[in-house]
Amino acid sequence: MNEAEEKINALLRPNIRSLRPYSSARDEFEGGDADIFLDANENSLGSPLDTAYNRYPDPRQIALKDVLTRMKNVRQESIFLGNGSDEAIDLLIRAFCEPGTDHVIIMPPSYGMYAVQANIQGAAIRQAPLFPDFSPDISAIRRHTDKHSKLLFLCSPNNPTGNCLPEDFILKVLGDFPGLVVLDEAYADFSGKPSWVSRVEEFSNLVVLQTLSKAWGLAGLRVGMAYSNKYIINVLNKIKYPYNLNSATINLALKALNNETAMQKNVSALLAGRARLEVALPEIRCVREVFSSEANFLLVRVTDADAVYRYLLDRGIVVRNRNRELHCENCLRITVGTEAENERLIDALTDFNLVTTP
Ligand SMILES: Cc1ncc(COP(=O)(O)O)c(C=O)c1O
Repeated sequence: MNEAEEKINALLRPNIRSLRPYSSARDEFEGGDADIFLDANENSLGSPLDTAYNRYPDPRQIALKDVLTRMKNVRQESIFLGNGSDEAIDLLIRAFCEPGTDHVIIMPPSYGMYAVQANIQGAAIRQAPLFPDFSPDISAIRRHTDKHSKLLFLCSPNNPTGNCLPEDFILKVLGDFPGLVVLDEAYADFSGKPSWVSRVEEFSNLVVLQTLSKAWGLAGLRVGMAYSNKYIINVLNKIKYPYNLNSATINLALKALNNETAMQKNVSALLAGRARLEVALPEIRCVREVFSSEANFLLVRVTDADAVYRYLLDRGIVVRNRNRELHCENCLRITVGTEAENERLIDALTDFNLVTTP
């Protein structure tokens, strides 16, 4: 066992370390010449659907990983595919955090699922809040770190603040932190910063999360990726449901990934929309501050977030009220929409004071 593998093994929960995973029929049949499949208790006659969904999907998702291997320039063994990146968050916590003993460190305000999954697992949550300007507090992380610190969740660009974490901060925590550093890049395609996916072999404790839900516009399909060294990826594969990605999702994701140009076009249009909102919103009376963003949303401080939220809702526009999040007093998180949606939002916000002040 080499040093990286030993390190991962030492971090793992003992029951996961010794777990023998379920071996599905499709795991045991390694390919070859067979054309009669009587091994998985499927329905050989077919289904009411035209498409052949009567067969279980490939539990290793080789076709999809093949495409990602080329697109991201990483090895197959460095890729985990999940039912959204939420699945990877859940599995990482379940694999590494012993309930009642271990903890995760989060940096609020950030994506809510890190804490929810930790709570479900019975892992404690230690908070190292961002500073009020949304920059990271490395001393707070260090203060909270001990031998039971299994996962540190970083989100860059961060949800809901929209800013990226500085490279030197990420490098420092990768060097310092005794557990895994999970870098959530759900919104990375909207940012000018390089992704860390290409660097997963460089650090034995780095896991990078990405998703098809944002730039690729496939939130309904549920495909998320974790990129890391093979020891960590093996752990996730060992504990996932055997068929965690269904055949329809795999086929449609393959089709979409074949059209990177369409994705790039949408990203460019969303960036233009973000730029339009960044210019238009600060001119509006009820808007106090528009935080700069590298994602497909803007965090916007208004005069009274609860009132503006309700007002927009009355006009058929749903945004996210982040008023109760740390450092986000009176803030709304607004996703960049289509050109027409953005204009309706601007018009509605412009009318806010007219409607609400007598
Ligand atoms: C930072 C962040 N990570 C992960 C996710 C979940 O992504 P998925 O749809 O792949 O589960 C979200 C969704 O909003 C998010 O904001």
